[in-house]
Amino acid sequence: MAAQAFVTLATNDSYAKGAMVVGKSLRNHKTSKKLVALIGPHVSDPCQSVLKKIFDEVRIVNVLDSGDTAHLAMMKRPDLGVTFTKLHCWTLTHYSKCVFMDADTLVVSNIDELFDREELSAAPDPGWPDCFNSGVFVFRPSMETYGKLLQYCTEHGSFDGGDQGVLNGFFNDWATADITKHLPFIYNLSSIAIYTYLPAFKQFGSNAKVVHFLGKTKPWSYTFDPKSRQIKGDVQEAATHPTFLLDWWILYSSTVVPMLHEHFGEQPFHSGCVEASGQPLLASAESLASSAERKQLWEQGQADYMGVDSFENIQRKLDAFLNM
Ligand code: UDP
Ligand code: GLC
Ligand code: MN
Repeated sequence: MAAQAFVTLATNDSYAKGAMVVGKSLRNHKTSKKLVALIGPHVSDPCQSVLKKIFDEVRIVNVLDSGDTAHLAMMKRPDLGVTFTKLHCWTLTHYSKCVFMDADTLVVSNIDELFDREELSAAPDPGWPDCFNSGVFVFRPSMETYGKLLQYCTEHGSFDGGDQGVLNGFFNDWATADITKHLPFIYNLSSIAIYTYLPAFKQFGSNAKVVHFLGKTKPWSYTFDPKSRQIKGDVQEAATHPTFLLDWWILYSSTVVPMLHEHFGEQPFHSGCVEASGQPLLASAESLASSAERKQLWEQGQADYMGVDSFENIQRKLDAFLNM
């Protein structure tokens, strides 16, 4: 029997950090499957080197972009046209069966049993449960299917401008045809579910096997102080997935960051971890509360140059922003 593999995707260094965590979390939970990372040509050399250490195969693919700004605007995610690149996963025909995992997922227990499922198995999307979420799915690589998918894109496009619209259009009987193709939600627990259905989360959340940080703000959009184990950034958003976000940062800062440091060497690189001695990079709860006031002062030309608005702080904030 040909090998089986978990597959993820990163077109840039930010998503590559996520991909590294996906790979590490699968290894930590002792998967017996191969690990494959599909990457865009713009992923930097040091990141490629780290990916090669974690994954069995790192394959450069050309970036496909839906260019469908109208539909992407409806989702408020203009950045997701490139998710068409995900379709390349069907070309991995040296594997008989694969499980695709978005780079913004985190595996919290062994999920090798997913390989007992057939194409196309996936969990419901929390926003529209008659559609499957394309962040985690079981598929069979096949050049024939790949060709048909590309043809589908040309003929019908995507109703959301991203891969999920195409895949739900193509595998359009998923909602009704075969219940065995419905993965339990715990295989793709999107952080959104925590605030949209809190009692269910309290009841079932501890059974989660894969957490998906779906949405615009990703774990790597925050910063983290490994010493105090504190996450910095938009505290309100962070509060929607508190412990999972911390799990992600602990795994990333303890296992991935040392590898990144090794490979970036002297080159500038931002891990997102704040120095123990440094000031908080982004807003903390207290400073958020007063940010409107600060903005007003700033606009009146009364910036707090010696304190929160010091050049050093602004520089750091810009650096963090540019490296997100
Ligand atoms: N992706 C990528 N580069 C991008 C955007 C997306 O590599 O600029 C890949 C990555 O694997 C990501 C997936 O496409 O996890 C889907 O995008 P995202 O997770 O941001 O969508 P969401 O789950 O938030 O809807
Ligand atoms: C979704 C999925 C993601 C997909 C995006 C665009 O919300 O989580 O995997 O890339 O939609 O279709
Ligand atoms: Mn995702």
